[in-house]
Amino acid sequence: MSIIDDMNWRYAVKEFDNTKKLSSEQLDNVLESLRLSSSSFGLQPWKFVVIETQSIKEKLLEHSWNQRQVVDASQVIVLCAPTNFGDTHINAFLESTAKTRNQSMESLDGYKKMMEGFLSRKDEAGLKVWMNKQIYIALGHMLTACAAMRIDTCPMEGFIASKYDEILNLKDKNLTSVVVCPVGFRSENDKYAHAGKVRYSKEEIFIHM
Ligand SMILES: Cc1cc2nc3c(=O)[nH]c(=O)nc-3n(C[C@H](O)[C@H](O)[C@H](O)COP(=O)(O)O)c2cc1C
Repeated sequence: MSIIDDMNWRYAVKEFDNTKKLSSEQLDNVLESLRLSSSSFGLQPWKFVVIETQSIKEKLLEHSWNQRQVVDASQVIVLCAPTNFGDTHINAFLESTAKTRNQSMESLDGYKKMMEGFLSRKDEAGLKVWMNKQIYIALGHMLTACAAMRIDTCPMEGFIASKYDEILNLKDKNLTSVVVCPVGFRSENDKYAHAGKVRYSKEEIFIHM
């Protein structure tokens, strides 16, 4: 199987088979694909809430445009941004870098100043946009990794973030929900499983120079 076969296999599942659950190894691998995602400067401005509890999934349904993927999927992953991103995050990242690469904190001072400079030029809205971009990269990693493992997904923006934040107590954790992704296995009845892939042709989207 090539990665392109995997990408053709995947689609945004509308109907999950609620009897099929990910094994703990499969779930670990899905979460690892999020953890290993790249991000600007490597700053990883994210947390991922993994919901398995059925009663919580049920509460989310009405705030998800009644899209049943959130109740029928094996897990619902809510990709979240910190609401208090700042020096603490930068320092934690630098400490992690120093430890992993056996470097002194002083040797990372230039990098620290560069990140601080980059981020200080952003206002609150700009910072939010920047964090959301990083989170969508993680989402992309996960979609592709899941496809390669033949695990189904449905990326979802069709939900009310403020309600998710309330139900999941995200405010207390200094987080806000950005995008949602149920994971599991497609139902045999999902008519979208057999729908053609709607994509522009190569000629329409690539500009070679
Ligand atoms: C960021 C994002 C948000 C999406 N939100 C929803 C959603 O709320 N509900 C849904 O059924 N599909 C959602 N989709 C799926 C898209 O409709 C789907 O990816 C697109 O139609 C392309 O089809 P395919 O992914 O099945 O190949 C979303 C996709 C992305 C990337």
